[in-house]
Amino acid sequence: METVLSGIRSTGNLHLGNYFGAVRNFVKMQENNHCFFFIADYHSLTTYPAPEDLHNSVRTVLSEYLACGIDPEKSAIFVQSDVREIPELYLLLNMNAYVGELERTTSFKDKIRTQPDNVNAGLLTYPVLMAADILIHKANKVPVGKDQEQNLEMARKFAKRFNFMYKTEYFPEPMPYNFGEELVKVPGLDGTGKMGKTAGNGIYLIDDAATIRKKVMRAVTDSGPTVENQTPTEPIQNLFTLLKLVSSTDTSDFFENQYKNCSIRYGDLKKQLAEDIILFTAPIREKILEINADKEYLRKTARVGAEKARESASKTLEDVRRIIGFKTF
Ligand code: TYM
Repeated sequence: METVLSGIRSTGNLHLGNYFGAVRNFVKMQENNHCFFFIADYHSLTTYPAPEDLHNSVRTVLSEYLACGIDPEKSAIFVQSDVREIPELYLLLNMNAYVGELERTTSFKDKIRTQPDNVNAGLLTYPVLMAADILIHKANKVPVGKDQEQNLEMARKFAKRFNFMYKTEYFPEPMPYNFGEELVKVPGLDGTGKMGKTAGNGIYLIDDAATIRKKVMRAVTDSGPTVENQTPTEPIQNLFTLLKLVSSTDTSDFFENQYKNCSIRYGDLKKQLAEDIILFTAPIREKILEINADKEYLRKTARVGAEKARESASKTLEDVRRIIGFKTF
């Protein structure tokens, strides 16, 4: 049995990128693995959420996670900040993380570009906190989308370095959990790049039908194919990628063929895509609304999840402290 860990930042709602990149596999995963699913609220502090919003965001993501089929009886679903062992492991791992390698990560370089006024140390050590999340449960499988590939590689690096420094084989090397497929990158609707919370280019599981239609109809396209069998430009390829995720093979083949023979009308493609997204997300949305209204269920679930997570985390931390050489008098 493998130990699987999956995390999601508590900033904003779950979008199709989160769903197809990671969450869609959770139901299957929890059947035959030891699963930990958590909401990364410490990570969200890199962008200073208002104190009055912090808890609500966590609650929203918790409801959305559960609505996607996580079973709290089978898995541990918890909030990162409920597990105080994580920051301690983070501190310890920071001692073996080099500033140079952290500065070179793509996500850090992106942040320097996108939020130059707030390049805080939390951003620099973001991969170390992620590694602590993973290693505290000695997870060997981590379901992630393509965007988190490098962070996971860093976690492997820190695990290996710890093992090497202390001449131990304590930490397993966490590998991506991808069900044998390529890591997925779900594109956004703005023509370029990935679907993301901060990018504002996404479709959320909680979006209602009218919102989805509006967003999809506004998706960036181009002026259309002019030559038979030409390679689609990025915005069009992105729409095809989304279509493949939510529509039947017949539907996506139909539009791809129309593209190839230059008869495609993007309006029709978008209409179909919007309706298929709506069909796909509607039952999840209903579930989210239902769960989010049940405060008692959420409270109980988070409490039980935290207990399970702390049990596993405190065991690891105790071992790590011993390996490093701490002793109580
Ligand atoms: P976050 O909240 O950005 O995303 C959560 C999960 O969704 C996947 N994902 C995507 N997959 C494909 N295409 C996309 N457009 C897309 N957008 C998001 C992510 O790969 C991820 O699996 N730092 C993490 C949260 C985290 C974490 C961890 C994850 C903290 N500690 C430990 C795994 C293990 C993050 O911001 O994910």
